[in-house]
Amino acid sequence: MKEIYEQKEYMKKIAEENKGQSKKYTILTMGCQLNENDSEKISGMAEEMGYTKTEKFEEANLVVINTCCVRENAEERLFGKVGELKNLKEKNNMIIAIGGCMMQEKHMADKIKKSYPHVDIVFGTHTLHKLPEDIYRVINSRKRIQDVIDIDGRVFEGLPISRASHTQASITIMYGCDNFCTYCIVPYVRGRERSRNPEDIIAEAKEVAKQGYKEIMLLGQNVNSYMRSENKKGECKSEINSFAKLLREINKIDGIERIRFVSPHPKDFTDDVIEAIRDCDKVCKFIHLPLQSGSTNMLKVMNRKYTKEQYLELVQKMKKQIPNIKFSTDIIVGFAGETEEDFEDTLDVVRKVKFEQVFMFIYSRRKGTPGDQMENQIPEDIKHKRFDRLKELVESQISENNKEYLNTIQEVLVEGPSKSDETMLAGRTEANKVVVFKGNEDMVNTIQKVKLVEDHMWYFKGEITNND
Ligand code: SAH
Ligand code: SF4
Ligand code: F3S
Repeated sequence: MKEIYEQKEYMKKIAEENKGQSKKYTILTMGCQLNENDSEKISGMAEEMGYTKTEKFEEANLVVINTCCVRENAEERLFGKVGELKNLKEKNNMIIAIGGCMMQEKHMADKIKKSYPHVDIVFGTHTLHKLPEDIYRVINSRKRIQDVIDIDGRVFEGLPISRASHTQASITIMYGCDNFCTYCIVPYVRGRERSRNPEDIIAEAKEVAKQGYKEIMLLGQNVNSYMRSENKKGECKSEINSFAKLLREINKIDGIERIRFVSPHPKDFTDDVIEAIRDCDKVCKFIHLPLQSGSTNMLKVMNRKYTKEQYLELVQKMKKQIPNIKFSTDIIVGFAGETEEDFEDTLDVVRKVKFEQVFMFIYSRRKGTPGDQMENQIPEDIKHKRFDRLKELVESQISENNKEYLNTIQEVLVEGPSKSDETMLAGRTEANKVVVFKGNEDMVNTIQKVKLVEDHMWYFKGEITNND
C-alpha cells in the first residue's frame, strides 16, 4: 500500500535520527478496545521509529494520548493530563501528540490548538497511520501540526503493531458505525462502516497464532454487520462475506483456542451467526449483547431498532440452541425521557437474563447527537439514584451467579502473575471470570483446569486440578 510504504520511509528516517539516543515513548489510552487496538498500532510505529516503551511520562521523549469522547468525564481527565505535561516538556525535549476520537470533534481539536500551545501534534482517527510523517515534520521544523480529516477514513493494511497482551490478540475487523443510536457520538467521530478484507483478517489471525497467542478478540462497533456496506455496494469480492462465515474461517486456525468478539448489535443477530457460535468449538459461549435499555419506548427513542420482547426472545433462542451460553451487556441509565416505568423495564430484563457482567453508564449528553437536543433530560440526582439501584441489583445477581461456579472445574487461560499477588497466577474462564491460583511459570499462556474454591465477587480463588 503506497500510503503505508511512505510512512515506513518516515519511520526509517526517524529511527536513523534516534539511533544511539535511547529515546522513549509512552501512550495514555483513554477509550474502548478499538482505541486500545489503535494504541497497539501507535506502539508498533513508535518502536519502529526507534523509541522504547516506558510507563513514566517524565522519562518519555514522545508522549501520545489516544482520546475517547463517548462520555464527558474524559475531557477533564485529558485537560488535566495535558496541563501536567507542560512542565515536563522542556526537560526531555518531549514531543506531545494527541489523537483519537475526541480530536475528531472540531471544538475539542480547536481548544487544544488554542489553549495548549505545548501540544505538537493533533491527529484524528482517520489519520492515525500518518503519525510517523507528523512526527518527522515536528522534529525537523518544530512547527505544530493539526492532521484531522472529516471524511471516512480508508482501511489501511500493513502498519506495524506492538500488542499489549501475550495471551489475547485483538484484531479489528471493521471500522466506523452506521447505526446512529441517538445518545452516541461514535458514528460522528469514526465515520461510516467499512470492513477489512477477510483475507487480511485471516492472515493476521494466522500470524498471531504463529506467535503463540491462544485467544483472539475480534473488534468492531457492530461486528455482526461485517461486510454489510460492502455487500450493499457489490464491493465484496470474497466468499467470506458475512460475520458468521468469518467466525467459521477463524475457527479453523490451528493454535487458536478461544475466539471472542465485541460488540454485536441485537438487531443484526441473524440465525447464521447463532449457528456459527454453536458450531465453532473455539468461539466462547459468552456473548456481549448490548441492551442499553429494557424499555421498548426508550429503545425507540434511542434508535436501537429492537423491542424489549425481541431482545428477550433473542436471548431465549440462543439459550435454547447453545447449552450453557452466558451473556454480558451494556446499559445506559437516565437517557432523555426515561420514566420510572421505563427504568423498571430495564431492571426486569436484568432479572430475566441474569447477566454475568453488566457495564453500566449514566447517560452523558454529547454535543451534535440527537439525544443532546431532546427536551426531557433527566435530572442528575435521579440518574444517580437509578444507577445505584441498577448496580445493587447487578451485584446481587453476580453473587447469585457466582454460587453456581463455586466448586466447579473451569478451563482457565493463564495470563501471567496476578496483579495483586505476584506469587499467584491469574487467568480467565470462558465466561471471563478472573481466577487467581497457585501454579508455575510454565502454565502462562496455556489453558489449565482449575477448581474454583473461593468466591470474591470480582474474582475467584482456584486450585489446579489434575483430573482430566
Ligand atoms: N458499538 C458498541 C459500543 C459503543 S460505546 C455498542 O453498540 O454496544 C460503549 C458503550 O458506551 C455503549 O454500549 C453505551 O452503553 C455507552 N454509551 C455510548 N454513548 C453514551 C453516552 N452518551 N452516555 C453514556 N453512555 C454511553
Ligand atoms: Fe454507538 Fe450505537 Fe454505533 Fe454502538 S451501535 S457505536 S452505541 S451508534
Ligand atoms: Fe471507542 Fe471512545 Fe472512540 S468508546 S470508538 S474511543 S469515542
